[in-house]
Amino acid sequence: PRVAVIVVAAGSGTRLGADAPKAFVGIDAHTILRHALRGVFAAPQAQVVVVTPADRVGDATTEAHEAAGDRGDLVSVVAGGATRQASVAAGLSAVWPDVEIVLVHDAARALTPPEVFARVIDAVAAGSDAVIPVLPVVDTLKRIDADTVVEPVDRSVLAAAQTPQGFRRAVLDDAYRDAAADHTDDAALLQAAGTVVRTVPGDERAFKITTPADLDRARGLVSPIPP
Ligand code: CTP
Ligand code: MG
Repeated sequence: PRVAVIVVAAGSGTRLGADAPKAFVGIDAHTILRHALRGVFAAPQAQVVVVTPADRVGDATTEAHEAAGDRGDLVSVVAGGATRQASVAAGLSAVWPDVEIVLVHDAARALTPPEVFARVIDAVAAGSDAVIPVLPVVDTLKRIDADTVVEPVDRSVLAAAQTPQGFRRAVLDDAYRDAAADHTDDAALLQAAGTVVRTVPGDERAFKITTPADLDRARGLVSPIPP
């Protein structure tokens, strides 16, 4: 199947609080975006659409071509929007006409291993319209009302959603064309449109860099990109 990966990197990173947009913050000598793209280019071959802040299209193009090596012809870079959903929509508009499977991936999940991409692609190729990687919830969870616990929540029926999330292209296009409300991930948008969403195992290393503590964790785990 023909595959595209949309890497959304257009957020500002308010919670990280660095002096650059989150995707352009360094983990080591290389940025979050550059590490994310290493995983993308180690995964099964795909068109790679990078979605960045409008004033970072040039920087992102340089990084994407470094990551792509001799596969620079697979790279597209477009400016994102004010919300993640708007950024995904911008990325979708750059997906080539012959693509059948679209993955949407957070650049902020910079250390996601290539196997997760392969699992998601395989599940969509096998017939699912929508597939997300998930991890079991490890914390003990409570439903609360202000500072009071209302009740315990059974974590065995819950899962933590990661990216890349994969979709049959036509289903994703339709959902985005008809999208009304803003959703926090693409699976939620598809589910609102009535699509059955399946799960595959996620990976601890696909955690999202959100806070300074997450960036420290990434710094402890990262392996250097060879020159
Ligand atoms: N994203 C995007 N466009 C936006 C908002 C988010 O492309 N308008 C991307 C981010 O770059 C990130 C992913 O969506 O890779 C997940 O979003 P999140 O972790 O919330 O990143 P930010 O929105 O940048 O961070 P914050 O919410 O702390 O500002
Ligand atoms: Mg955000």
